[in-house]
Amino acid sequence: MRKLSFLVLTAALAVFVGALVLPSFSVAEEGEEEAKFKFVGEAKCKFCHQGEKNGKIYEQWQASDHAKAFESLGEAHQGDEACLKCHTTGFGEPMAAGATAKKLQGVQCEACHGPGSEYKAMKVMKSHELSLENGLVVPDEELCKSCHVAELPQECWAGADASPSFDYAEAYKAIEHHVPEEK
Ligand code: HEC
Ligand code: HEC
Ligand code: HEC
Ligand code: HEC
Repeated sequence: MRKLSFLVLTAALAVFVGALVLPSFSVAEEGEEEAKFKFVGEAKCKFCHQGEKNGKIYEQWQASDHAKAFESLGEAHQGDEACLKCHTTGFGEPMAAGATAKKLQGVQCEACHGPGSEYKAMKVMKSHELSLENGLVVPDEELCKSCHVAELPQECWAGADASPSFDYAEAYKAIEHHVPEEK
């Protein structure tokens, strides 16, 4: 009799504790997963991806239209949320400590390669597999088209007759960058 009530009590307690703890635990876990990879800003990629022996990837990007995408908005629209998701990097997504909205202006490396807080470490970067596990994105046509949509807001093509069309092969050639083979 005693043993039975002990069992019943234990079971009831387990259910009670489970109901109390489990849902909040799984929510916390989801939240953690979401914020695991954070945006760090282009300055963090510069050191390792600049210079001749690294293919001048940083310099090439810095001279590109993507790097100027925030400036293009003009003062009137630089605070306009309707524009920021395509003219900045990781708008509304979790940022790493020290990475401010100012540091994420323009279409930066991470807008195409994913938030870099976990993959930017040398030992991770040197392994393609590890980089993928740590948030690296290999950009494809679909990713470009998340911003290069068929009908852009009119502000993006003021003066033209229609929203510019996006030809992936051509657009890719314009942004193509490589790490030199002999590195
Ligand atoms: C500590 C140095 C270092 C930093 C910081 C760094 N990288 Fe790298 N990255 C490397 C190295 C090394 C490779 C391997 C290729 C090579 O030798 O250049 C690499 C490779 C890559 C690749 C190709 C990966 C693959 O496997 O396909 C991408 C894309 C990349 N980096 C983007 C970035 C971005 C974006 C940032 C900033 C968020 C960044 N890297 C920061 C060192 C670095
Ligand atoms: C986060 C949004 C975003 C993503 C992702 C993106 N772009 Fe862009 N892209 C822009 C914006 C904004 C501009 C205009 C920048 C400016 O001039 O102010 C632009 C301009 C360009 C231009 C120069 C203008 C033109 O059409 O001739 C090329 C080329 C281009 N993007 C290619 C690509 C390619 C290729 C990809 C995918 C690998 C890509 N973009 C992904 C937002 C994006
Ligand atoms: C869905 C993503 C998206 C949104 C939202 C967006 N843009 Fe754009 N914008 C682009 C892309 C992509 C281009 C490059 C188009 C091209 O030339 O191929 C561009 C180009 C531009 C350009 C031309 C830059 C130049 O110098 O040639 C301006 C200016 C601009 N956008 C302003 C705005 C403003 C202002 C807003 C908000 C009202 C806005 N954009 C919202 C994606 C977007
Ligand atoms: C507009 C999108 C876009 C931006 C911005 C961008 N990249 Fe890339 N990057 C690509 C694409 C597309 C590839 C080719 C992916 C593939 O292998 O199919 C690539 C490839 C790479 C590679 C591998 C090159 C190789 O030889 O295989 C490295 C390293 C890299 N990017 C680093 C960077 C860094 C660092 C920045 C910022 C300074 C940057 N990228 C900005 C789209 C972008």
